[in-house]
Amino acid sequence: MYEKILYSCLEQVRKKTDFRPKIALVLGSGLGDFAEKCDIITEISYRELSGFPTSTIKGHIGRFIFTKIKGTPTVIMQGRVHYYEGYSTKEAVMPIRLMGLMGVEAMMLTNAAGAVNTSYEVSDMMMITDHISSFVPSPLIGANFDNLGVRFPDMSVVYDKHIRNIIKNKAVENLIPLREGVYLQLTGPNYETPAEIRMYRTLGADVVGMSTAIEAMAARHMGIKVCGISCITNMAADVTSQLLSHEEVAEKAKAAYPKFEKLLNATIPALN
Ligand code: HPA
Repeated sequence: MYEKILYSCLEQVRKKTDFRPKIALVLGSGLGDFAEKCDIITEISYRELSGFPTSTIKGHIGRFIFTKIKGTPTVIMQGRVHYYEGYSTKEAVMPIRLMGLMGVEAMMLTNAAGAVNTSYEVSDMMMITDHISSFVPSPLIGANFDNLGVRFPDMSVVYDKHIRNIIKNKAVENLIPLREGVYLQLTGPNYETPAEIRMYRTLGADVVGMSTAIEAMAARHMGIKVCGISCITNMAADVTSQLLSHEEVAEKAKAAYPKFEKLLNATIPALN
């Protein structure tokens, strides 16, 4: 059923556009403005695709935007669906797989994240070097889709080394401060307790979030190159005495936005 819906969505996309993206960009909470500034060639709302998961969160737009970023054919996912909304992780990665089937060769995954690493600061950006996904079910559980990838995919290098070097160099060239670290995915929707954050720090996490690791896994399963950027919207629960709210996270993501936009404009064409 799942595979049938996936290929039906591909067919529905093909009926609407023959645009062939090479790069995919997934925009995290509060970072959607990047899509607003692009010249939209075609857009497809997730709701237009029968069978496709759609966001249940107030204010979350859900659409694919087909555009060119400095000449590079790109599909942007403005809004994603999350495990905490009640979708399975497998359903949550359907958009990733669909973009893979559209022909995308590299993906940039972005998110808002809480800093576990105490040397980080709000509005910092972190390039993801690796992830911990052990607290959420693998999106690859269930019958393997052999035409997408192998049953037991390697995850020893999820975040492409060559692309990471490009991003690092572009950040230096453009004087954009950039951290590097490990992203740990949690189910959400609740934020963490201080005791949990201390545990995640011990386990090697630099930031925590609710979205990206499963997407990276689904993309790697398909052999797509992956990179990821986290925007630090808050210090995690044991560092700050401030209570966390979604509104605060979205607002702080906006504060990080100018740097984020600069980094994306510099790196996306280089991913091609
Ligand atoms: N925890 C989990 N997810 C998040 C956070 C956080 O502190 N901030 C933004 N996304």
